[in-house]
Amino acid sequence: MRCLNCGYEAELDQRLLICPRCGGLMEIEVEPLKAFSPSELKGRGVWRYKQLIPGNYPELVTLGEGNTPLVRAREFNLYFKVEGSNPTGSFKDRGMTVAVSSALNLGYRIVTAASTGNTSASAAAYGARAGLKTMVILPKEKVALGKLAQAILFGATVVEVEGNFDVALQAVMKTYMSSGLVYPLNSFNPWRLEGQKTIAFEIFEEIGVPDTVLVPVGNAGNIYAIWKGFHELREHGVTESVPRMIGVQAEGASPLAKAMIKREEVPVFTDNPETIATAIRIGKPVNWKKAFKAVKESGGTITTVTDDEILNAQRALARINGLGVEPASAASYAGYLKLLQARIIDKGETSVAILTGHALKDPSSMMLAQSVRISVKPEEIQKVIEGEIRSGNSS
Ligand code: F0G
Repeated sequence: MRCLNCGYEAELDQRLLICPRCGGLMEIEVEPLKAFSPSELKGRGVWRYKQLIPGNYPELVTLGEGNTPLVRAREFNLYFKVEGSNPTGSFKDRGMTVAVSSALNLGYRIVTAASTGNTSASAAAYGARAGLKTMVILPKEKVALGKLAQAILFGATVVEVEGNFDVALQAVMKTYMSSGLVYPLNSFNPWRLEGQKTIAFEIFEEIGVPDTVLVPVGNAGNIYAIWKGFHELREHGVTESVPRMIGVQAEGASPLAKAMIKREEVPVFTDNPETIATAIRIGKPVNWKKAFKAVKESGGTITTVTDDEILNAQRALARINGLGVEPASAASYAGYLKLLQARIIDKGETSVAILTGHALKDPSSMMLAQSVRISVKPEEIQKVIEGEIRSGNSS
């Protein structure tokens, strides 16, 4: 393990999450395998890649995460990685199976996470499965209904703070630094990202290395994790290239995209992030340094989309492709459409948009879509149905 900030080096240790010397982010370096062929992999889902995930896991806490569909878009040279098909409806489950397995095997009794919603839903489910107490810290009234309902159903203690995600995350960080008793499940924990990197392995096994991968960016862990997966495949000698990693932030919560445009080495954080895509309503992405590394080393960038572009993309995914996703997830597709138009993405290149979470997470965003809803009295039903059949036949 090596600190991304000061270069401090340590042996692999699942207890080690943050640099003990400077408080920076730790990276996990995987030794290249001498001989590795994907055909040797057995099983399904995240743990199919156990060989490529460092750490000790005598007892696995798993709900069958991973193995999500890669669906070809009806338009464009584009694939969708449908992470909403994970057990709790988001990509977080891939990281949670690794992090909660670590917590259990290290003897922790309590796990915690700050969250815009999905991390808390996933932590609550895996915490329950492991028999651990789970405490989630959420920005009050800013978490989509489906996610809050999941945390409640899975029995987590829900702490709602009058402030945004960044305030909640600071509290988790502080608790972790001051008490050895609570295991944090946020993405500053590098072991979680070891699970999320399997998104890259699955894409590679289906279509090889794409030219471009688009990822919605909030706390900025996932874009790094997916890049790390492709990077490791190259280090193991399995592939020769990594895709261009393109992050997509909502305009009202886009400190990293702004830094890219201004060519700033260090982003200027936002105190009041705002977007309809509540999952990525984050002003101080804790993994910014890792995200910058992924983007720079892959020749990518981080861009922004407006809330309107996000909602239009969400509807296009649903009505053209049959894929229901929450607003944050639609950001990757909105980013694709924008960069295609700007010719930053070429229509000939193969792209993958990561659809990070399921539509059911955020029912109120779905209800904003224009719809045909007809309220009828019993005696009118037949007439209305016949009218609809006539208009369906003539359109
Ligand atoms: N998409 C969805 C649906 C998310 O829930 C998140 C993050 C992201 C994208 C961004 O991923 O943080 O790795 O850049 N949600 C976190 C949470 C913050 O608390 O659920 P990231």
